[in-house]
Amino acid sequence: MVILVVANLKGGTGKTTTAAYVAHVLHEWGDRVLLVDADPQGSALRWAEVADWPVATTALPTPKLDRDLPGIVGDRFDAVVIDTPPLAHDRGIVIAALRAATHVLIPMAPSPIEYDRLPATTGAIDTAAEQRPDGHRPEVAILLTKTVASASSTGVYRAVIEEDGYQVLRVAVGHLQRYALAYGQPIERAAATAYADAMEQLLGDEVTVR
Ligand SMILES: Nc1ncnc2c1ncn2[C@@H]1O[C@H](COP(=O)(O)OP(=O)(O)OP(=O)(O)O)[C@@H](O)[C@H]1O
Ligand SMILES: [Mg+2]
Repeated sequence: MVILVVANLKGGTGKTTTAAYVAHVLHEWGDRVLLVDADPQGSALRWAEVADWPVATTALPTPKLDRDLPGIVGDRFDAVVIDTPPLAHDRGIVIAALRAATHVLIPMAPSPIEYDRLPATTGAIDTAAEQRPDGHRPEVAILLTKTVASASSTGVYRAVIEEDGYQVLRVAVGHLQRYALAYGQPIERAAATAYADAMEQLLGDEVTVR
């Protein structure tokens, strides 16, 4: 069972867009996917309803998420993708999601302000790991998003973040109209986007059906 948490305590970094696309990638690959909207703002759930997604979606914006999740998932799903809120006051929800995670994906733009806020998120991952009874640490990867073609910032921040000891996925998600306008629309051919390459690198063989 893959439990992929999309997290970044900074707002507007592309969490909901990323969670939506990766959930569709796994769905298109044949996995039974549940998208959990852990953000009290409810953007992912609203998107799912408005666009009538084929991906099962539910709201679970609670600091007890890790305790409630197993009962909701049962044996009905192969993969769970969790969209999390930004902001320090919802940190309890983010930590609860991180306690349940097998994998954590941190979407961020290669920019000074997003890099400056990265320790808040990696710190939350450390806190959650300390709280886990099994002591398990999820696999953590950074996904560079909103990148500008041929801009040097992508390579510069990749190198800086890798030097800090974090895994940065090979593929980056470009700053594209496709994503800027995606909210509220159905998601088609997600498996042909950079998000599929990201899932292939992050999950490797752990995805059940292709
Ligand atoms: N690759 C991209 N290219 C262009 N625009 C993007 C891209 N990814 C996300 N966006 C846009 O950036 C904005 C923020 O994205 P999104 O809502 O996914 O971020 P978020 O981290 O979930 O925000 P919040 O912290 O408020 O929950 C949205 O307008 C979205 O359409
Ligand atoms: Mg969001």
